[in-house]
Amino acid sequence: MSILEKIKAIEKEFEAVIAECGSLEEVEAVKVKFLGRKAELTGVLKSVASLPADEKKQAGKAANLLRGKISSALEDLKEGMSARSAGNAGELDVTLPGTSLSPGALHPLTQVMDRINDIFISMGFSIAEGPEIETEFYNFEALNIPLDHPSRDAFDTFYVEGKYLLRSHTSNVQIHVMQAERPPLQVIMPGRVYRPDAVDASHCFMFHQVEGLMVGRDIKFSDLKGTLSSFCRAMFGEDIKTRLRPHFFPFTEPSAEVDITCIICRGNGCRVCKHSGWLEILGAGMVDPTVFKAVGYDPEEYTGFAFGMGVERIAMLVYGIDDIRFFYDNDIRFLRQFI
Ligand code: PHE
Repeated sequence: MSILEKIKAIEKEFEAVIAECGSLEEVEAVKVKFLGRKAELTGVLKSVASLPADEKKQAGKAANLLRGKISSALEDLKEGMSARSAGNAGELDVTLPGTSLSPGALHPLTQVMDRINDIFISMGFSIAEGPEIETEFYNFEALNIPLDHPSRDAFDTFYVEGKYLLRSHTSNVQIHVMQAERPPLQVIMPGRVYRPDAVDASHCFMFHQVEGLMVGRDIKFSDLKGTLSSFCRAMFGEDIKTRLRPHFFPFTEPSAEVDITCIICRGNGCRVCKHSGWLEILGAGMVDPTVFKAVGYDPEEYTGFAFGMGVERIAMLVYGIDDIRFFYDNDIRFLRQFI
């Protein structure tokens, strides 16, 4: 072992020993072991004198450095221990600055999701959850999305082993709920969904949706409209208007996209609403009879509506955030705004 390696080994040993040190007595013993007359390092320092000139300089410097390091580490430890025992003895120095606790908070997405859930709970909905790793049956087939149908492209999907996939929307939970229960049903289903989108300011491969479902004997399109416009007023403000635009989803018929008055410009036209005064925030429609058949409900007996919304998009609008990636960066300067 070269002398430099020996010095390194002593340093390693010291670090291990000091980590275990629990009392002033032990600190004293460590001091004797590493800095005392018979200490290995003391021996090393003595032997430096007989080394050739070039080695002498290097080894002497390293050994002295370590000696200094050991001695100040032991002093610091001793000081820390006596300060603590003085505190315990009631000799607390009240003039020292205090340590402040920084409060934590729920993630902004959790806060927004909680608000969405609370509004629906106040309207009589209950909450259900379902699996994120799913089969094609629940994510597609039972929702009237045939295997070879182009509408699958709209729900581009991550496939995992065998017949499993990561759900591309929360609509799978509709099927689980309807299989497990009989109408009347009034549920919301929040959760994570996955789509293989390239990440940019408005896309991420994982995001959150809140799904809604109401099924009963006489549920009408006007119930859907009333429920969603009440939700939008509670969520975005009493002056917010909603409008429905015809759309297509395989699992609802008729289907609609729901717009609200732009909450940035209040309908006057701005960059965010592309000067239309409206923002699209929801997909919705009346449950397609084919879906009822897939879960064993009689479509002659029951009708219902379903809707789904993206939580990130709503959170971005509510907080005026223009890049979805902020939610997942874990940058404390961003997160602190939501405390
Ligand atoms: N699942 C649809 C989506 O992810 C949203 C939706 C849900 C539409 C329920 C209608 C009814 O885009």
